[in-house]
Amino acid sequence: MPSPITNVEDLRILAQRRVPRMFYDYADSGAWTESTYRANTSDFARIKLRQRVAVDMRNRTLETTMLGQSYKMPLALAPTGLTGMQHADGEILAARAAARHGVPFTLSTMSICSIEDLAEDSSSPFWFQLYVMKDRDFIGRLIDRAKAAKCSALVLTLDLQIIGQRHKDIKNGLSAPPKLTIPNIINMMTKPRWCLGMLGTKRRGFGNIVGHVKGVSDMKNLSAWTAEQFDPALNWSDVAWIKERWGGKLILKGILDVEDARMAAKTGADAIIVSNHGGRQLDGAPSSISLLHEIVQEVGDRMEVYIDGGIRSGQDVLKSVALGARGAFIGRAFLYGLGAGGEQGVVTCLDIVRKELDVTMALCGRRDIATVDRDIIAENPFGPTYRDQ
Ligand code: GLV
Repeated sequence: MPSPITNVEDLRILAQRRVPRMFYDYADSGAWTESTYRANTSDFARIKLRQRVAVDMRNRTLETTMLGQSYKMPLALAPTGLTGMQHADGEILAARAAARHGVPFTLSTMSICSIEDLAEDSSSPFWFQLYVMKDRDFIGRLIDRAKAAKCSALVLTLDLQIIGQRHKDIKNGLSAPPKLTIPNIINMMTKPRWCLGMLGTKRRGFGNIVGHVKGVSDMKNLSAWTAEQFDPALNWSDVAWIKERWGGKLILKGILDVEDARMAAKTGADAIIVSNHGGRQLDGAPSSISLLHEIVQEVGDRMEVYIDGGIRSGQDVLKSVALGARGAFIGRAFLYGLGAGGEQGVVTCLDIVRKELDVTMALCGRRDIATVDRDIIAENPFGPTYRDQ
């Protein structure tokens, strides 16, 4: 990769150059006006940290546990659709990078590489994200496949019963594999590395779905396809049967409201992810970070609380942990790394975030991530700071 790459924004710029427009736009866009997508990042910047000095900062540790497992830092790779279209075999490469950094990787239902592809490649257990589709037999079998692959947690997404409109996806005619229209061919010709990678893999469709659902061979167009397949009737009683069928650690993703957090806690799930789907669903919803503290106060004694949305740096991870998150998920940040440089690009992204987290924690006067709490926050427009404790 060209140097110097010093932050996630450098990776984003490189990914934009290397990944065909249709797939870069898919990863990078939010719904409608993108106001929630923007708030996710800008609200992190509104939280200020306390600078502390003359504190012994030797022997620092970022090690933590999530769902009882030890990890090298309080970070996970979020489930992202079409990851294998940012780079050939993208899910396999990103999972390898996550394993090298000792953090969990979450495979999306809408991945290009299948659960079985990943299980075959990887010696570290991964998490599997589930979308509920109308075909419940398929969903049952998908849960069984995740069990057979020894996935160590199931992440059930609750905020995508219908898809939030993303203008660019419709304009680009997003599909996997891409439709070979003249504009797409012209755009792809400017991305020779990407094309070479894709020619070298057979994984170009939805690995978890094609061949497992009657009548689905390939995708026409993401919006039309999800409108047909995703179940708008999903409700809390479905969570109960999914929990029962799965029988392992369960994380509910897409909680952005205190009342929903209470409902989630009642299901007996092990954790929730405070999330607005990266600003890709309900445009106009608040940022994830602005609600984190309130939700942790409500249910944090009963379940682990994670966050995603807008996390682009180790500073964002530290602020999340200070406000009560057990772990922070990155989605776009690692996809930029993947598009920029495959497995090494994701490793670079994780190196960057880890270093930012470590240095920021030290400059706040802490040596152990387990001791990070609200006391390191100087100003928080969304809730209490150390002064209110
Ligand atoms: C989900 O897969 C999305 O496109 O946000």
